Amino acid sequence: MSTSNRITTTAGTPVPTNETAKTAGKRGPTLLEDYQLIEKLAHQNRERIPERVVHAKGWGAQGTFTVTHDITQYTCASLFSEVGKKTDVLSRWSTVAGESGAADAERDVRGFSLKFYTEEGNWDMVGNNTPIFFIRDGYKFPDFIRTQKRHPKTNLRSPEAMFDFWASHPESVHQVTILMSDRGLPINPMHMNGYGSHTFSMWNKKGERFWVKFHFKTQQGHKHYTNAEAETLIGKTRESYQEDLFNAIDNGHFPKWTMYIQVMPEEEAGQQSYNPFDLTKVWPHDDYPLIEVGELEMNKNPDNYFQMIENAAYSPSNVVPGIGFSPDKMLQARIFSYADAHRYRLGTHYEALPANAPKASVVKHYHKDGAMRFFTNDFDNANAYYEPNQYEAAHTGLEYPEPPLKIDGDANRYDVEDKDIDYVQPRALFELMDQAQRERMFNNYAAAMGPCSDSVKNRWYSVLEKVHPDYAQGVKAAVEALDTDVNTVPITDDTPKEV
Ligand code: HEM
Repeated sequence: MSTSNRITTTAGTPVPTNETAKTAGKRGPTLLEDYQLIEKLAHQNRERIPERVVHAKGWGAQGTFTVTHDITQYTCASLFSEVGKKTDVLSRWSTVAGESGAADAERDVRGFSLKFYTEEGNWDMVGNNTPIFFIRDGYKFPDFIRTQKRHPKTNLRSPEAMFDFWASHPESVHQVTILMSDRGLPINPMHMNGYGSHTFSMWNKKGERFWVKFHFKTQQGHKHYTNAEAETLIGKTRESYQEDLFNAIDNGHFPKWTMYIQVMPEEEAGQQSYNPFDLTKVWPHDDYPLIEVGELEMNKNPDNYFQMIENAAYSPSNVVPGIGFSPDKMLQARIFSYADAHRYRLGTHYEALPANAPKASVVKHYHKDGAMRFFTNDFDNANAYYEPNQYEAAHTGLEYPEPPLKIDGDANRYDVEDKDIDYVQPRALFELMDQAQRERMFNNYAAAMGPCSDSVKNRWYSVLEKVHPDYAQGVKAAVEALDTDVNTVPITDDTPKEV
C-alpha cells in the first residue's frame, strides 16, 4: 500500500489497524500501552466546544460580494473602491434562542452574519433579519436573553418570562410585532432579508463622516411559514434550513441578495423626531432612500461545517478603514461582547482559525503567545517583539484617517429616551398590514401568550393599546378564543408487550 495514504496517529506515525483495540487474547483486557485507543477516546471527549450563548443553531455558506454601484463618495473602504470589485464572504444565519440541536423552523428572530475578507482585514456585518431590535441599551441584554432561554426550575422556555420582560420594556413592541407577524418565521435563510440594524458610519477620503444603515434584500423573494405549516414540517424534519440551503447550493441554485445603504449626513442626526441611534427605530425610506451598492451571492458549501461555520467568530468590532461605529448604545456594548465570547468559546488565537483568518491582508500584530499559537508573525526580525522599536518592522497608520466621532451629552445612568415615540413606528407597521396579515399575527400571539398569567397578558395588552386599539383588541380576542385546555386527549394504556 502507498505510504502517502496511510492512517497515522496525530504525531504522524503509521497506524497498523483501525479495527480493534490491543487486547490480551480473546477475553481482554486492553493494554494501557494501547495509545491509539487512548488517543481515539480522548479526541472524542474533546470534539464539542461550548455552543454560542445565543444564536447557537446556525447554517452557513461561502460566497462572493460584487460591487455594482459606486459609493466612494461615502466611504474609502477598499472593498467598495471600484465597480466590479469582488470580495470573498463567509455567511452564517441562525436562530437566537434555541440550542444547537433546536429545530430550524421555529418562530424567532434570525441572525444574519457576513464576514467580508477584504484587502484591509475582515469586516463583519453581524446583523439580523429585522432592521430593529427589542431593546436599545446593551445593559439590558443579559436579562433579555435570560427570558428567551430556559427557566431555571422547569428547564422549559417561559412565555411568562418573555412577555413579562417585553411588557416592562414597551420599546420592544416594534420588534415583537415583527416577530409575531409573517416575518417571524421565514421558510429558510434564502428567503429573508438581512440588516445591519444598528446605525454605523462610513468615512470618505476627504474625512467626511456619514451615518449609515446596511440592508441585504433577498432576490429569492420573502417567504414564510404559518405556525401550523412549521409544526407539520418540524414533525418531519428538524433540519429544514440546513437541507434547503445545502441542497440549493449543491444543485447550483446560488442564493443572492442586493446590498443597499441608507445614508444620513453627519450633521442631520438629531433633527428627526426619533433618535437615529436608537436600535428600536428604523429610518423611514422616504427620508433616507435605499442606495444600491452590490450583490451578494453564496455559492459554496463549506467542505467542513465545523471548521468553517461552528468555528466562525463574528464581531461588530471587526470594521475596516472607511467603516466605523456610531453612538448607538447597543452597538457599543456589542463591540466588547463578541471578542470576549470568542476567547472563551474558541480560545485566545481564534482569529488565526481558517474561518476567521484574514485572506488578503497580512496580519502583523504584537499579540504573542498563548494556547495554539500556530502563526509566525515575527516581522523577520527576532528583536522586534515589542513596539515601538528601533528596527525595520511593522508600522501603524491609515491612508485615510478616521475623522473624530462627535459625542455629546452628560454621562448618567438614566434612561433619557422619549417613550411616546416608541409606539409611532409599530403603529405605522400595523397600519401597513392587511386584515389577513393581522389575523395571522393575532393567532401567533395567541399561541405564544396562551400560557401567560392574566397579569402579564393585561400588561402587554396595555402596551398594544398604545400602539393601536385594534391591535390590542385583536390579540386579546385571539388569546381568549384559544382553547388552552391540553388535557382533553384521553389517556390509553400503551404499555408495550414484552417477550
Ligand atoms: C448588547 C447587545 C448584544 C450582545 C451583548 C450580544 C452578544 C452576543 C454574543 C455573546 C453572541 C455569541 C457569539 C459567539 O459565541 O460566537 C452573539 C451572537 C450573535 N448576535 Fe448578538 N448580542 C447583542 C445584540 C445583537 C443584535 C442587536 C444583533 C443583530 C442586529 C445581534 C446579532 C447576533 C448574531 C447574528 C449572532 C450570531 C453570530 C454568528 O453567526 O456566529 N446581536 N451575540
